[in-house]
Parts: sequence; C-alpha cells; structure tokens
Amino acid sequence: MSNDELTKIATSAREAAYAPYSKFRVGAALLTTSGKVFSGCNVENVSLGLTMCAERSALAAAIAAGSRDFAKVAVVTDSIRPALPCGACRQVLAEFNPDLKIVSATLQGAREEYGLEELLPKPNQGILGANEHGEAS
Ligand code: THU
Repeated sequence: MSNDELTKIATSAREAAYAPYSKFRVGAALLTTSGKVFSGCNVENVSLGLTMCAERSALAAAIAAGSRDFAKVAVVTDSIRPALPCGACRQVLAEFNPDLKIVSATLQGAREEYGLEELLPKPNQGILGANEHGEAS
C-alpha cells in the first residue's frame, strides 16, 4: 500500500479523534505485513495523563484483532510541521517492530518519513536486552 493511501486512511481516522482539551486531533493508520490496515485516533481524558495517542490506539486495535506484524504507520495532524510519535508510542511500537517505517503528514501536505530505529535506538537496552545477557536481574 502506498504512503498516500495509508495517509488518507489516517486522515479519515483523525476525524473521530476525541481531543476537547488540546484541540489537537491526530489520526494513525497501521499497516500490517499482510496488507491489513488498523486505524486509531487520540482519545483524551480530563485527567490529561490518561490520554491515549492515535498510534497506540491503532496498535491496540490491531493486537485485539490478532495482527502483530507491522510494516508502517502513518500519522496525520493539522499542524505546520508533521508530528512524530511521542516517546511512549515509540517504545510501544518498538515492541512489535523496532524498524517500523513512520510516515508523518499534515493535512496541508507536508510529509516526513523515518525509521523507528532512528527515533528510538536500542529499545530494549537496560530492560529485556540486559536480562537476556544476564547483566541485570
Ligand atoms: N498525540 C497523538 O495522538 N499522537 C502524536 O504523535 C502526538 C500527540 C496526541 C496526544 C494529545 O491528545 C494531543 O495529541 C496533544 O498532545
């Protein structure tokens, strides 16, 4: 699936975003290696801290449907520059594919592409990776 198509799906997912506090609506579309797409949007909460990002809500939908192999995620915002996944989302996405491709786009057509490995290098360092090598207990 092309970046354009995936971005279009993320753009329509953004329409459902619940963002009464920040007014910053985000849509995400997560592509599996078998060509399925799961979309998500941000879901804010009055506590603010319990807000769920679009990327993680797309991921949760995919996992709940039985898909775990991901190739790419598109993220769409209405902003001057494309928004990149936050640190928490990077870590959660890396759980399933540390080399996931990321396409961040704005409604106005700006677009940036990254590999998750450049946004979150060494995702397991000090946690799972250290345990595997017996360096931490
Ligand atoms: N947000 C996302 O959903 N994904 C991002 O990549 C950036 C931030 C949401 C969280 C919050 O609801 C709003 O955008 C403002 O940070």
